[in-house]
Amino acid sequence: MEKRPLSGMLSGSSLPIDREPEILSLRPERLSEYIGQTEIVETLKIAIEAATQRKEPIDHVLFHGPPGLGKTTLSYIIANEMGSNITVTSGPALEKGGDLIGILTHLEEGDVLFVDEIHRMPKTVEEFLYPAMEDFAVDFMFDKGAHARSHRYRLNTFTLVGATTRVGLLSAPLRDRFGILRSLDFYGEEDLVKIGRRSAELLKVSIDDKGAIELAKRSRGTPRIINRLLKRVRDYVQVRADGKITKKTVEEALSLEGVDKKGLTHLDRRYLKTVIEFYHGGPVGIEAISATLQEEADTLVDVVEPYLLKIGLIIRTPSGRKATESAYRHLGFSVQQPAEGQKVRRLED
Ligand code: ADE
Repeated sequence: MEKRPLSGMLSGSSLPIDREPEILSLRPERLSEYIGQTEIVETLKIAIEAATQRKEPIDHVLFHGPPGLGKTTLSYIIANEMGSNITVTSGPALEKGGDLIGILTHLEEGDVLFVDEIHRMPKTVEEFLYPAMEDFAVDFMFDKGAHARSHRYRLNTFTLVGATTRVGLLSAPLRDRFGILRSLDFYGEEDLVKIGRRSAELLKVSIDDKGAIELAKRSRGTPRIINRLLKRVRDYVQVRADGKITKKTVEEALSLEGVDKKGLTHLDRRYLKTVIEFYHGGPVGIEAISATLQEEADTLVDVVEPYLLKIGLIIRTPSGRKATESAYRHLGFSVQQPAEGQKVRRLED
């Protein structure tokens, strides 16, 4: 857990949840700089302006959606726009009720408390959060049994910002205590081009129109990915080309990274090949795919599947995941669905 004023946001200080400090510096600090997710930005602008006029903190906010789409960035922006401090923690870091109480009792008036992966917060901790969110209070219990007494401790008012990749795993009482619940969706190509250009400018690297479009196409609708790939291409053009990012240099650099035309990685392709070759295109359960790939089912559900579903390479049915014809075509398999037990033939085989 770390608490710091927003001025520390760009300082590159060691952060408990942000893995790459440089990505942080590419993040917008204000809603006016934020590209995409226009309805969420508008909701936040209204909530922040209204709360500021009333001299209150804004309602608790829950952001959900796949990783890398801006949940953390928006939390920092909320604190920045409100002129408050932000305290950052995560569901798994809060092991005991005391961990949360320690944080809550140190919040100053109007602070933002950001809890990443809030769906992984233990149930025993979650129960302390209810009175904190509703009444800005924590209830301490003294003694047990017949002598049990509780004491209510008042907290400063604050805004809880929760982030989760799995909103379905949140209990109803917790979900219902958020006033603003918004789902972040994958970004369209146009917004990704703008984000790529903005980041290239911050990184002081030249990128032409076709280069920016190619980078956007390969970024799985995700700002965090475009920023990461941009840095790889920046390295490539600095060492292997003339320092300018073009469609050709994006293609060359990203083929070295194993990122294909649709932005799929080795893991995405292994997933699809497993469904197609090993399970005859599905339907197949996630646990079976996870066991075959030797990858955590959670990683597949949170990181791999959302984009494959989004671009229609897999579908989810009640009996499991199925690869679509587009997946067969993308990997170069013949589209004709094979009979049970028949080996799938690759077009170039
Ligand atoms: N960097 C990462 N995400 C961004 C966004 N949505 N807008 C502008 N810059 C970004």
